[in-house]
Amino acid sequence: MNRNVTLEMLFIHPIAQKYVGRSGIAHAISVAEKAFDIAIKSDVNPDLAAKAGFLHDIGHYSWYSGSGEWDYDMYKENDIHAIKGAARAHKLLVRCGEDFRDAKAIALAVLLHTDSYLPEGNLHLSPLQKVVAIADEADEEPGGNHHYRQIDYANALTRIKRLDSKINNYQPSNHFERTS
Ligand SMILES: [Fe+2]
Repeated sequence: MNRNVTLEMLFIHPIAQKYVGRSGIAHAISVAEKAFDIAIKSDVNPDLAAKAGFLHDIGHYSWYSGSGEWDYDMYKENDIHAIKGAARAHKLLVRCGEDFRDAKAIALAVLLHTDSYLPEGNLHLSPLQKVVAIADEADEEPGGNHHYRQIDYANALTRIKRLDSKINNYQPSNHFERTS
């Protein structure tokens, strides 16, 4: 596949290191890998799925209560990380040179990867949005423990590069929508 922006470019960017690092690089990479695998099976653009998977939690913020302890329940109740994440992901992608339509599709998948902050109702997710939501759910652990999984920089970069080359080598059998 032809791509302007690789996962490696996003991974090494200080914005991703800072904000994706906050909610766990190990979780982000694992969701990107899962999103790639599911995208291939569902005929969804694996480049967009992997990028949205990597960036889906980039909107997380202040994890701690006044006592310095992280209050997971309180955070969950008041959380809008998907909203902040969509904007941060979009800014980073555009800065790195992403196609505008793709940047929007990825940002929307970040926005809708969880419905926990939305009023009750039925969302009709696009195939790309579904892939990212399923990949995230598949990697979650009780009590938010997936955010604490550790990975060192060298291993993280190796996995990111491996995923980049899988995407580069991917030849879609059918022609999917560019921003499906
Ligand atoms: Fe997540």
